[in-house]
Amino acid sequence: KTPSDDFVIDDELINGIFKPRKEFSHKGTYGKSILIGGSYGKIGAISLAVKSALKAGSGLTFALAPKCGVEILQTLAPEAMFIEGGEKNVTEINIVDDAIYGIGPGLDTDLLTAKALIQFLKNYSKPLILDADGLNILAQNPENLQNIPSRSIITPHPKEFERLFGKTQNSFERLDLAKNKAEELDIYIVLKDHHTQVITPEKKVFYNITGNSGLAKGGSGDILTGIITSLLAQKYSEEEAGILGVWLHGKAADFAAEKYSKESTQPTDVISELGNVFLELN
Ligand code: APR
Ligand code: MG
Repeated sequence: KTPSDDFVIDDELINGIFKPRKEFSHKGTYGKSILIGGSYGKIGAISLAVKSALKAGSGLTFALAPKCGVEILQTLAPEAMFIEGGEKNVTEINIVDDAIYGIGPGLDTDLLTAKALIQFLKNYSKPLILDADGLNILAQNPENLQNIPSRSIITPHPKEFERLFGKTQNSFERLDLAKNKAEELDIYIVLKDHHTQVITPEKKVFYNITGNSGLAKGGSGDILTGIITSLLAQKYSEEEAGILGVWLHGKAADFAAEKYSKESTQPTDVISELGNVFLELN
């Protein structure tokens, strides 16, 4: 281990990653995002992810969610298309060509949902994003981890990380375990916390310093899933999408906190502020 494997996500790094939109372009230039999740009572989670993917610039955006969410999703995000994946939860996941999948927000861990997800992962080999109940399903059986496609990005909070990989004594041990798992499974791990860490399969660690305690509310993580999916669809590399994603998410939260306070900032306010963050980058 050399100290040069640890990086802070600063403005210079972000300016090097960010690509302004090209004038001669069309929706195909900016990719296809498919967010998979939602279940009866958790349609909000998938709605937040879909909204965030749209606001982060995805060319075409889909929600694959249960039928009970169709009106809500099509009203909250008329720009996104709906793919029915079941009645009250997702029980069927079909492969769509050339799309980037972000899986997990509000998904639930129902037996049929778990079966559908594991089946899908067995037949799919391109990088995707896994979060929340997508990770909780994988945590039910350690063998499932082998089915995560190489170069995928997982976004666990500390509890989800523990369910996946086991208990550690402190954050140093947790980071070491995360580096080993990222290498072993050939995946990127976005370890969400006050200072989120993006860990690469090469064991590089990027520390995020944007964001604040206004994000300590249900729904904040769903936004990050939408943003990273959107960036990957826009052909940022996995490493770039992880780094730019956590930075944008935190920066939007910082802008929202200045306007509304940390207490009152809602995840939907964070989504709204994404536009102001992009204005500053451009
Ligand atoms: N400072 C900075 N960032 C923070 C802070 C803080 N004090 N608290 C939270 N955040 C950020 C995290 O870094 C992360 O990006 O907010 C986000 C929270 O993500 P999650 O913990 O996944 O929260 P949530 O949106 O509630 O997840 C929704 O998925 O993980 C499951 O059980 C969870 O059902 C819930 C759903
Ligand atoms: Mg979450």
